[in-house]
Amino acid sequence: MKKILVVGANGQLGNCIRKIAPDFELDYEFTFTDSQTLDITNADQVNSFFSENKPDFCINASAYTAVDLAEKEEEKAFAVNAEGVAHLAQACVDFKTTLIHVSTDYVFDGETNLCYSEDDFTSPIGVYGESKLKGEELALEINPNTIILRTSWLYSEFNKNFVKTMLNLFSQKDELGIVGDQFGQPTNANDLAEAIMSIIEAQQKTFGVFHFSNYPETTWFEFAEKIAEFSKSKIKLNQLTTEQYPTPAKRPKRSTMCLDKIEEIYKIEPKHWENSLEECVSILAQ
Ligand SMILES: NC(=O)c1ccc[n+]([C@@H]2O[C@H](COP(=O)([O-])OP(=O)(O)OC[C@H]3O[C@@H](n4cnc5c(N)ncnc54)[C@H](OP(=O)(O)O)[C@@H]3O)[C@@H](O)[C@H]2O)c1
Repeated sequence: MKKILVVGANGQLGNCIRKIAPDFELDYEFTFTDSQTLDITNADQVNSFFSENKPDFCINASAYTAVDLAEKEEEKAFAVNAEGVAHLAQACVDFKTTLIHVSTDYVFDGETNLCYSEDDFTSPIGVYGESKLKGEELALEINPNTIILRTSWLYSEFNKNFVKTMLNLFSQKDELGIVGDQFGQPTNANDLAEAIMSIIEAQQKTFGVFHFSNYPETTWFEFAEKIAEFSKSKIKLNQLTTEQYPTPAKRPKRSTMCLDKIEEIYKIEPKHWENSLEECVSILAQ
């Protein structure tokens, strides 16, 4: 029986992996850790945990994800998203564990009219993106046998995210302004969890960077419109420009990622974002 360690298991992605773990229990033994039981910023703790548990796969679902706060908490963001990832990568080398690490579309500056492919030039425009890029670089430098999945606009029925924030605001307000000039691809974290398990199950592993999200691209405004439609909300939504909705951290204008590499190599077909969103909204309505 192969062992899978899921680090940062109380986050959105971690919870989605927990949800599907019973489907894989005949072949895999899962261990889920949170920041209390395994703090990735603590190299000794990481090392002794791996030494005791010797996982075959480590899914890093942990991260410092507060994009705006990261502008003020650079050290904290780098401690988790860069140094913490390095500790995991080193432990994975030492204990022959395959590392599956999750990164972000925010490693790109968003100044493109096309989709970004995996080897396109990275140039983050905020501290969060910089710290995640550093994590990618350290992971691959320390452990070339790492699979990095960049994802975008992650949401689920768990924890805090755009979909849950919208549903909450729809129940309190009659009208809402949403940014309509930033483009990207929403991703249901349940789909990402399934993609990760497909990679673990693949007989042959190709390492390196892959993009995974739902498709095609949309804007935050259109995303909010669909959340309203699927939740049968009567909210009036108004389209705002980025200038009308300033945030502490700048966001890429278009961070749409090309998805053909993961399709070609791992035969993972991304779902249409509207279908995945509808599933999530219906779960949240229960
Ligand atoms: N959310 C998005 O929109 C988005 C977009 C693109 C990419 N991503 C990436 O997707 C991945 C999953 O994101 P998510 O939304 O599921 O994250 P999340 O819900 O914010 O969860 C992150 C988890 O990381 C844990 N964590 C933080 N510091 C830790 C530490 N030092 N040691 C161990 N665990 C620690 C947190 O645990 P505690 O709660 O116990 O502190 C939290 O449960 C991340 O790599 C993220 O960068 C996310």
